[in-house]
Amino acid sequence: MQNFLNICCILSLVCFSSSTFAQGQNKTTFGHKRSYEGMVVEPTLSVATDVPDRILASWKGDPSTSFSVTWRTKSGADAVAEVAIADSGPKFVLNAKLFKGETSPLKTNLGTVHMHAVTFKGLQPGTLYAYRVGSRRTTELSKEDRSSVETATTDYAWSEWIHFRTAQKSQGKVVKPVRFVYVGDAQNDIKSHWSRLIRESFRDAPRMTFMLHAGDLVNRGNNDHEWGEWFHAGSWIFSTIPQLAIPGNHEYDRDRISAGAGVEYRDIPKTLSRRWSQRFEFPENGPKGSTENVYYVDVQGVRIIGLDSNLEPNTQTEWLEKVLKDNPNRWTILTHHHPIYSSSKRRDNPELRDTWQLLYQKYNVDLVLQGHDHSYGRSGPIDLQLSRKLVTEENVATGLRVADQSGGPVYVVSVSGPKMYDLKQYPEETLKSNPHRRRAKNTQLYQVITIEQDRLIYQAKTATGELYDQFTINKDKSGKNLFHDQAPSSKVTQKDN
Ligand SMILES: [Fe+2]
Repeated sequence: MQNFLNICCILSLVCFSSSTFAQGQNKTTFGHKRSYEGMVVEPTLSVATDVPDRILASWKGDPSTSFSVTWRTKSGADAVAEVAIADSGPKFVLNAKLFKGETSPLKTNLGTVHMHAVTFKGLQPGTLYAYRVGSRRTTELSKEDRSSVETATTDYAWSEWIHFRTAQKSQGKVVKPVRFVYVGDAQNDIKSHWSRLIRESFRDAPRMTFMLHAGDLVNRGNNDHEWGEWFHAGSWIFSTIPQLAIPGNHEYDRDRISAGAGVEYRDIPKTLSRRWSQRFEFPENGPKGSTENVYYVDVQGVRIIGLDSNLEPNTQTEWLEKVLKDNPNRWTILTHHHPIYSSSKRRDNPELRDTWQLLYQKYNVDLVLQGHDHSYGRSGPIDLQLSRKLVTEENVATGLRVADQSGGPVYVVSVSGPKMYDLKQYPEETLKSNPHRRRAKNTQLYQVITIEQDRLIYQAKTATGELYDQFTINKDKSGKNLFHDQAPSSKVTQKDN
């Protein structure tokens, strides 16, 4: 009977494929045009069990002495985790220290699961650790299964042992080399089209210090199936490399479950997805009321500041100025979802320029990493004072910005998923008003950024690993930046297909 069903299955697939190709349909219909509500859920992407899955590492505390992990199980409120210094021999487990996890239920569109979190503290800087996470089994193992696992693990279902390296200690302006991958919106068709990109980025920079997601990680923040796709794509990469993220507009979603029955969907206000603070363990050092959506973290001489551009910018300005002013680090990277300079049509955000940009200039932010526009745009260093002066003197339309070789932050918008928008076009006579020196459309990209004591090297790579953009910033003793544009003049220049 089973064989018969298998044959039917294969036949129907062949028939479907044949008819698809027979009709000449060779274009993909991307997921953002579909509704997931009626989709058949793939069990491996969404169904929770007693065994920990969706394991994600990040930093809630000092990256040199701690790291945090979250994971998911179906039930099981008793969550634990173990950590030990990794060793080439298997007996490192004998030195493992047990930590108690915190558990909270998460109601999803696919049923209730349990989210667990732990922060390993008191660790040594620059050290390779092995950790595993577990939760008490809610269904007893069969006699046969029980005999096949270690005695110590029969009461708990455990993950594998996972390596994690703590950051190196850094004092003042001393930088220990940092490398990270930054990606713009993954958002749609994550399993189908984002998997290849995020895995290529890991292949490119396997010893990276962390990974940064500039918002719109999924299309609908409360949809569990989409998070299943996200974890499928990143898989164990997310458990071994610390992940940093800030929310995009798609992490703000209507919470149908909390709203209860009888409330019209359109009447439910959009709020930050319930799972954001359950999924991510980020520093709780943001402005009052922020739920790990606004924060900063210092890593080896680099300050990473995450803002939530979905909220009224003024709610974060005072905090931002304090964090920029009181900053002992040599380099400062800033990230938020909506761009200061949009790269796509009809997506300008003047309120961000009016509220935040002066502070970036005043406190010497080096690099601003953004998403949202589903295309690529990268500026030179933008000297805000100089550009405003020119706007006044030449009476040129608002939007003119001057890229100087030395002054001001560099602004980047990028996209990693398959949803693509057209580039913003600038009139020929005001071409210099285009803040972006390098642009692309229809191109999935990831960025590898390497920061040393006096040098920042930025590379944008296509989903196929091809170098698309590059620049270097050299920082002198006084902290002044010298910018070198190294965009390759290859056939992929200004990709416009
Ligand atoms: Fe967005």
